[in-house]
Amino acid sequence: MSYKICTLPGDGIGPEIMDEAKHLLAAIGEAYDVNFNCDDQLIGGCAIDATSAAGAKVSALPPETLEAAREADAVLLAAVGGPRWDDPTPGAVRPEQGLLAIRKNLGLYLNLRPVRVFEALRDASPLRPERLDDVDLLIVRELTGGLYFGTHERRQGVEGAGVGGSVGDVAIDTMEYREYEVERVLRWAYEAAGRRNGVVTSVDKANVLETSRLWREVNHRMNAKFEGVEGEDMLVDNCAMQLVVNPAQFDVLVTENTFGDILSDEASMLTGSLGMLASASLGDGTALYEPSHGSAPDIAGKGIANPIAQILSVELMLRYSFQMDAAADAVAAAVEDVLAAGWRTHDLADEATDAAHRLGTAAMGDKIIEAFRLHAG
Ligand code: IPM
Ligand code: MG
Repeated sequence: MSYKICTLPGDGIGPEIMDEAKHLLAAIGEAYDVNFNCDDQLIGGCAIDATSAAGAKVSALPPETLEAAREADAVLLAAVGGPRWDDPTPGAVRPEQGLLAIRKNLGLYLNLRPVRVFEALRDASPLRPERLDDVDLLIVRELTGGLYFGTHERRQGVEGAGVGGSVGDVAIDTMEYREYEVERVLRWAYEAAGRRNGVVTSVDKANVLETSRLWREVNHRMNAKFEGVEGEDMLVDNCAMQLVVNPAQFDVLVTENTFGDILSDEASMLTGSLGMLASASLGDGTALYEPSHGSAPDIAGKGIANPIAQILSVELMLRYSFQMDAAADAVAAAVEDVLAAGWRTHDLADEATDAAHRLGTAAMGDKIIEAFRLHAG
């Protein structure tokens, strides 16, 4: 068996954590007799730099990258962005545009972010440990619609828009959803809940937004179709509160793009660090896997980034793209073991972690591979 993976290390800590994912992929290949061919391509800030240096059209997603992604069996992305590319000039190309463009172009309308608590990290969570009992939720985020892909406009010099009635700017972002966009995401959420604990919480702001009222209607329709799955609606502000008060109540939490972005960062902290949350973006073609965290430019190049979300993204890739569940289980078990043995990256360490147990990126990657080999097989 041979698979082609389009690897997109991107910016900041991206290349460092991607290296660990590649080492792990080599170990998985060895253990399960599979050949993973990684093909590095540019996305984000590094793509902006490369295209402008080459005198080509400046782009955060060069055509070759998109082409390679389309042809691959799966795409593995690390992170994009950094202050170097935070150009305030209107119309300037931003690294994040590469991410949004690849999601849109590959038709990745569904983003899964499983939130699980690692026993060994209970103390790293800002919540009291007993609140984490039975926490196991799957966030299903719509990924190619809503505010992110509506029109964005800046009108300059508008009469009365300034302070005190003077001339000023008006900024406009529109939020749009088509019924089919809502339907396909909710359907996936209900199907997933049927295989899990049978509860779908659909999150909206139906007391204010028309898009949410459409979302809620579709949710009720879907709920009626899926016997045996319990469906509920929850307002997004209440959901933000419930996630810290009683996170164990959730099974599948499904929501639109912007709400999902915000709630998934919040939910990731239940696990103690944003560095633990992986994601899978699925659609009709090639799927993409990436950590939910960003490029952490402040610690880039220092060799201290936590590679676990990247490694757990490999786990999701094994499950969803390659149907290699046994290998995926072995990766998950390896991460569990390494944490249980007390090994910590800087973001996970606390006063109880002695210096000998604090690991850099590469050392954590090695530990996980070592543990993986014991489970693989
Ligand atoms: C995420 C990120 C991205 C998003 C940014 C980098 C554009 O925050 O994947 O959650 O908002 O979708
Ligand atoms: Mg985000």
